[in-house]
Formats: sequence, C-alpha cells, structure tokens
Amino acid sequence: MTEIPIHDYYPHASQLVYGCMGLGGGWNDTPAQEKDVKQAQKIIETCLENKINTFDLADIYTFGKAEEVFGKVLKSTPSLRKNMVLQTKVGIKLSPTHEVKQYDLSPEWITSALNSSLQRLNSENVDILFLHRPDPLMDLDDSAVALEKLHKQGKFSHLAVSNMHAGQIAWLQSAISFPIIANQLQMSLQHADFVEESITTNMKEGCNSGFPRGTMEFCEQQNIQLQAWSPLAKGIFTGNPSDKPTLTELATTKLLAQLGNRYSSNPNAILLAWLLKHPVNIQPVIGTTNVKRIVECEQASKVNLSREDWYLLLETARGQEVP
Ligand SMILES: NC(=O)c1ccc[n+]([C@@H]2O[C@H](COP(=O)([O-])OP(=O)(O)OC[C@H]3O[C@@H](n4cnc5c(N)ncnc54)[C@H](OP(=O)(O)O)[C@@H]3O)[C@@H](O)[C@H]2O)c1
Repeated sequence: MTEIPIHDYYPHASQLVYGCMGLGGGWNDTPAQEKDVKQAQKIIETCLENKINTFDLADIYTFGKAEEVFGKVLKSTPSLRKNMVLQTKVGIKLSPTHEVKQYDLSPEWITSALNSSLQRLNSENVDILFLHRPDPLMDLDDSAVALEKLHKQGKFSHLAVSNMHAGQIAWLQSAISFPIIANQLQMSLQHADFVEESITTNMKEGCNSGFPRGTMEFCEQQNIQLQAWSPLAKGIFTGNPSDKPTLTELATTKLLAQLGNRYSSNPNAILLAWLLKHPVNIQPVIGTTNVKRIVECEQASKVNLSREDWYLLLETARGQEVP
C-alpha cells in the first residue's frame, strides 16, 4: 500500500475528507443562525476527534453560508485551524435569486470569489484552492496570471481542480508554474464509472462512461490526488433509499449490511472501504451531517475488503457480472 498522493504536500492529511456542503442551514436565503454555527462546531470537533482533519468547502455551498458558519467556528476557536487541511472551491456562479447558473474562471471572478471565501472563512489563506468546474469561456493565459498572483500573495498554498479530465488538467498545468495536486470527481459504488471505463474498453457500453477515460491513470502518474464526491451515494444503500428502489439497489443494500456484520463494521464503512481498496488511493469526501454516521465512516480505514468481496459488491451494484 503506497502513501496517498496528498501526503507529499500534507503528510498529516486524513484519508477521509469532511465535505461541508450540508452546513449553514440549507440552500435558501434565510441567514445562517446560531444553531447552524453550533452544528458546524459539533461536526468539526467530531471529525477532528475521529482523525478526519481535511475539510472541503466551496463558495457556493448553501449560498456562502457553509463557509460563513465554518469561519465563525474558526474565529471562536482559532486553535482548530492548525490541525486542519482547509480546501475551498471557486468557479460556479449561483445565487438564491436563481440568476442564470454559469461557470466563471475569469481572472476577475476567481479573484473576487476567493477573496470573499477568505473573508467568510475568517482565514488569510486556504491550503488548497479548487477550480470547481471547467469554464468553456476561460482564457487560459489570463486566468493563469490571476492564479499566479493569488498564489504569490499567499491566498492559497496549492491548486487543485474538480470535474476535469486528463486533457484539461494537462492544458491548465501547461500555463501554471506550481503543480495541480488534486482532482475531485463523483465516485461511489452507485456512480462506479471510474471502474466501468477501465473494464469496458473495446465495448459499446464503455463509450457511455460517465468518468473521463484515462483520467484515473493520468492522475496517478502525475501524483494528483483523486478525491471522491458523494462517496456515500447519498445514503441510497445505507438508510436513505430512493422512492422506488431497484432490485440492484435492494440487493446492494442487503449485501452492505451483511458485509458490515461480517467485517464487524457497518454498511457506510463498507461502502467507503470499497473506494479505499482501489490502489489509486482515493480520498472520499463524506457529506453526512449526522455525527453518528461520521463516526461510522471513520471505521472504513479498519476494513480491508477481500478481492472477492470487492468484486461481489461491484457485480451486485452493476446488476451483472463483469464482462
Ligand atoms: N466537486 C463537486 O462538484 C462536488 C459535488 C457534490 C459534492 N461535493 C463534495 O462532496 C461532499 C459529499 O457529497 P454529498 O453530500 O453529495 O454526498 P454523500 O456523502 O454521498 O452523502 C451525504 C448525504 O447523504 C445523506 N446520507 C448519507 N448516508 C445516509 C444514511 N445512511 N441515511 C440517511 N441519509 C444519509 C446525508 O444526510 P445526513 O446529513 O442526514 O446524514 C447527506 O445529505 C459534499 O459535502 C461536498 O464537499 C463536491
């Protein structure tokens, strides 16, 4: 088992990342309340007590309120910051008034969005700045100049991307003097296209893969950390079933419960252990706001799924054996 790639930059970073999209009191225009700050405090403390010290935010989460409550916790307990790896994202324009949703990686937007995030976070810098999604209208050279300037000013220590394929990362890297260190994409037993694309080469099914072909290998080769968003599949297999569960969802739910017992663990941990088994060394970004579930998730590091059980989970979730 090799070190996770992020350890080259943050040797103390946890393999699980806490995703803060659920903090701040919801996606509405009601201002964040004291109870939302208390919730954030409790969750941050629970994570740190359970050795989860990497926190994932974005300027848009709950329209800025996630960063706001996180920043209030940091202000009231500044000592928490030194044990953390703090990451945020910019690049999506979204507001509660539902103006046209757009991606914006222009120099002006990157600069103003990062400055606003830092203000909300009560921080002078973030450890890792993510470009949230590719913006087809981005001018590479102009945006690179802005990123270099913000980096020099110390507003972020490292750069990362999200939802980008290998070609986009290489293109961006060609204009930037410091390394892109992570890529965040959707990966879970429910959204397993990162595995599908690797096993359906030369098959028609492979053409429809929702995961960019070759990106996993590119990231591993370039020492770019892969982070998985929605790794719990929003609880679809572990307590939050869809309205009309399919037969494969029901079978996967049952198998996760059985394996949870067999490995003296729990279904959420098994779900994450399935991701952790992949040798590329993924960092799952868990988004549950339930402290009991956070503690359950931490158990994943103790589960070493057998090769047989890993394939059994894959086969059960995809509804048929591998080709
Ligand atoms: N880069 C990107 O484009 C991108 C996109 C989406 C998300 N993200 C990041 O990824 C993080 C995680 O994403 P996520 O929140 O969508 O996915 P997730 O971690 O797969 O699921 C968390 C959600 O599922 C619910 N849930 C999980 N297990 C449950 C269970 N056993 N029973 C009932 N409900 C359960 C949680 O509710 P409770 O809170 O009640 O537990 C929560 O709403 C986010 O916080 C964010 O940081 C990034």
